[in-house]
Amino acid sequence: MDRIKIRGGAPLNGTIPISGAKNAALPLMTASLLTADTLELHNVPRLADVATLLRILENHGVDHAVAGKRPGQTTETGQTIRLSAGTVIDTCAPYELVSRMRASFWVIAPLLARFGEARVSMPGGCAIGTRPVDLLLSALEKMGVAIEIEGGYVHAKAPKGVRGAEVVFPKVTVSGTHVALMAATLATGTTVIENAAREPEVVDLAECLAKMGARISGAGTSRIVVDGVSRLNGASHAVMPDRIETGTYAMAVAMTGGDVTLENTRPELLRSALDVLETVGVEISESNKGIRIHRNGSGLRPADVTTDPFPGFPTDLQAQFMALMTRAGGTSRIRETIFENRFMHVGELARFGAQIRLEGDCAIVDGVGRLKGAPVMATDLRASVSLVIAGLAAEGETEIHRVYHLDRGFEALEAKLARCGADIERLRAS
Ligand code: EPZ
Repeated sequence: MDRIKIRGGAPLNGTIPISGAKNAALPLMTASLLTADTLELHNVPRLADVATLLRILENHGVDHAVAGKRPGQTTETGQTIRLSAGTVIDTCAPYELVSRMRASFWVIAPLLARFGEARVSMPGGCAIGTRPVDLLLSALEKMGVAIEIEGGYVHAKAPKGVRGAEVVFPKVTVSGTHVALMAATLATGTTVIENAAREPEVVDLAECLAKMGARISGAGTSRIVVDGVSRLNGASHAVMPDRIETGTYAMAVAMTGGDVTLENTRPELLRSALDVLETVGVEISESNKGIRIHRNGSGLRPADVTTDPFPGFPTDLQAQFMALMTRAGGTSRIRETIFENRFMHVGELARFGAQIRLEGDCAIVDGVGRLKGAPVMATDLRASVSLVIAGLAAEGETEIHRVYHLDRGFEALEAKLARCGADIERLRAS
């Protein structure tokens, strides 16, 4: 298995192009099942999760083509993928594929909406928590879908089609909102989604669905209204910038010091995280080019943070912020409210000499004067990048094992950091 080796201590200076968002690309690709026409997606990041979903779509019979590179395009400008679900040969998503990536469960919604049935393996838990799908299934039941669970598979049927309904989520769920939204586009009648997730990825999906002919209002608010239509057409859509990648590099620069412009991204996608970074002593300015992150010499101040659904502080930046606060001049309290087990990085950060103790859903971080490089193990996607951030600032050498977690969600991570001065390399498994 590949490893990443970092010699810490170098400040970061330069520019980093931000890729298309993984968590927008995945539902957008899934939406290709809603139409027999071609859906063309631009700015799709080159990530293991994208490749996994392509395999799942392929299994349903979706044709896909990755467009050739155009002149001037670099490996960092994202790829264009054309997806055509003209002939769907199988409405079953098997365990071998769904178990690799939870988001693949979402194919249940377009399959039901277009074909009236789907058989999809239950996704199971993952390193950050149990992550059930009960809210997704009860939303579909509300929309007239009969659900049976047998042999680890969800058999979902709506022989007369999905019908519009009032779906009230008892808690904010991004996956639930994506699923209800996709199912509602081809339903008969109107669907109202209450307590909908307001995440920018939901807005991106809704915008693409609207280009495909869906009638949606309120995306980005907690009440989304969808008037079902009888068919959707093809469309062309560019995936939004990755706000989590943006925040991750912002925290890396905050950690090492330096001056980096994050290009092709937008500050409003991560306002709460940028506000917290300013509080701890990072200078941030915004321009048409992107977001400039600057920290020079001065120490970091501690801060208390609680993760929350958008527009709150994202759970997907919690680990990275914790790495940053290990070097702050004082004590920070970081509360995780979205996932019950998202503190796997605490034990690994301790290997750098970080002082962190857990009290229920709260991590109390006592900043230390310095971190020391160490061999560490990546446990999940965002946890693993927090180890990269710690390694960039630690004295000496850090070696990160199990970097396939990173490859699921960070495009060209070593190249992007190295061109800003980081001493980082991938050691390929022979
Ligand atoms: C999405 O996961 C993201 N994944 C996650 O990013 C992100 O952390 C999460 O939203 C929260 O922002 C993708 O977009 C592919 P949820 P999702 O449904 O949609 C509970 C990453 O690192 N819940 O909003 O699965 C659930 O257990 C990943 O890129 C139920 O109880 O998250 C969690 O506690 C990790 N029942 C909370 O709701 C359900 O049926 C929010 O989950 C569904 C969810």
